[in-house]
Amino acid sequence: MTISEGTGEDLYRLYFERTGDAFLIIEGDRFVACNDATVRMLRYRTRDELLHTHPSDLSPELQPDGRRSFEKANEMMAVAFERGSHRFEWDHRRADGEVFPVEVLLTAVPMPGRSMLHVVWRDLTERRRLEAELVQAHKMEALGRLSSGIAHDFNNLLVAIIGHSELLLADLGDLPDQQSSAAEILKAGRRAADLVGQLLAFSRKQVLRPQTIDLAATIADMADMLRRLLGEGVAAEIEPGDRPLWVRADPGQVAQVALNLAANARDAVRPGGRFRLAVEPAIVDERTPDLHDALPPGPYVALVAEDDGEGISAGDLPRIFDPFFTTKPVGRGTGLGLATVYGIVRQSGGSIAVVSGPGRGTRFTIYLPRVAPQETQGGATAVEPAGAAAAGAHVLLVEDEAATSRLVRVMLERAGYRVTVATGGEQALAILAGGEGAGEAGRIDLLLTDIVMPGIDGVELVRRARELHPSLPAVLTSGYPAEFLAGSAGLPFVADLLQKPFSAQELVHRVATAVRERA
Ligand SMILES: Nc1ncnc2c1ncn2[C@@H]1O[C@H](COP(=O)(O)OP(=O)(O)OP(=O)(O)O)[C@@H](O)[C@H]1O
Ligand SMILES: [Mg+2]
Repeated sequence: MTISEGTGEDLYRLYFERTGDAFLIIEGDRFVACNDATVRMLRYRTRDELLHTHPSDLSPELQPDGRRSFEKANEMMAVAFERGSHRFEWDHRRADGEVFPVEVLLTAVPMPGRSMLHVVWRDLTERRRLEAELVQAHKMEALGRLSSGIAHDFNNLLVAIIGHSELLLADLGDLPDQQSSAAEILKAGRRAADLVGQLLAFSRKQVLRPQTIDLAATIADMADMLRRLLGEGVAAEIEPGDRPLWVRADPGQVAQVALNLAANARDAVRPGGRFRLAVEPAIVDERTPDLHDALPPGPYVALVAEDDGEGISAGDLPRIFDPFFTTKPVGRGTGLGLATVYGIVRQSGGSIAVVSGPGRGTRFTIYLPRVAPQETQGGATAVEPAGAAAAGAHVLLVEDEAATSRLVRVMLERAGYRVTVATGGEQALAILAGGEGAGEAGRIDLLLTDIVMPGIDGVELVRRARELHPSLPAVLTSGYPAEFLAGSAGLPFVADLLQKPFSAQELVHRVATAVRERA
């Protein structure tokens, strides 16, 4: 039947049959007619099968408000007859048992002597999912702002804590008790730095160093570490597969993801339990089930972490990615593990699917976009002994905070650098221009500057310094994550960004690398 040859009645029939909403006619307590969209929505095999089902079998026993579906349905129909039509939300049950939300519009069909209703159902599953995603996105955004702010202040404090304890540790060689105290301070400082890093990873504001990496090889390299983490009581199956699968991600963060998933499995399984971590190629399309956040269709690499542990209850499942959500006793879990995983995965353009239930074990599938293999790059990234090549070089250190500046100066001097300190951008430019202090300062080999300073900020300083000395290497330091600094446009031209808190070793290594690259 085509529209041009259709009679008026044919046209109505065509509309009834073809529309995407589910259309039904109910008379009394049975279905008289329905269209194909109804059959598809309820996942019945045939229209006949559906029409012979009693309407009450299409609803779960209770509605979300706790009322019995049967009673409430009669009430809704009565309202429709009384007012002519009635619109409301309802939970239905598909043939396979899945309960899903619909919007219902009941319209009374005015037929003398008969109580007929015209019914329209609209599936709300997708709308509900989007709403939930939006709420989640807002929550993450707010927490992200809060944590970047806190992280900045903490990172400055941690520079002092970590750096000074490193210095103490080196100086207290002949006082073992004091040395071990310094070592404890250092350890606590590093743990605090990790926590701040995790908060930032969660808030997706961490400075990432994404590279094209073979996820299969990355996981294969971690096999021993993962087995040690899981302990002997857990049968670990690490299955990276035997072919390379390339993604763009920060390798350190990928390791963090795998470790967090393994640690959770370890806590969830009974002795003799099982954990499997596999890397597989995957295609994501609209049928990919359980994705926490929607992904564009295409080729992905899946990191699958499965255990046969206690599983997660339906009540807890929506909250597991929330920061500080934990079901573990105080001291056992902080609730940052999965929040971190979530942040890293989203920032790497991926998504997570979780399938779990009490006593049924848990499966996390992490999808990361698959990319073309990395072209082999010329130079290897051999790590030379920190500072060896650059020792003796002259660093201009620009830092407005006296405590940090003293500390960084000592760190560099111990590694054999000469250091000249400026407390701000103006003074630094004067030194570089050969003015104040330049006589004794001599040639500057590297500019090491904080980004956030009153007056000329670090980014502007590097720009103006390069007007004087075009090839001057520069390293910027900041307690703020890079994304937060987006306002100070032009960051990309800068040689390097060193995130606070840094250790003496990291500082010296980065300074040495920057100086060497110019040489
Ligand atoms: N594999 C799993 N099996 C069962 N429950 C899990 C699993 N992974 C996570 N969970 C649940 O999700 C919660 C949150 O996990 P998450 O890793 O974020 O925090 P945590 O493990 O409690 O603490 P942290 O990782 O910070 O030490 C856990 O407390 C646990 O209830
Ligand atoms: Mg955890």
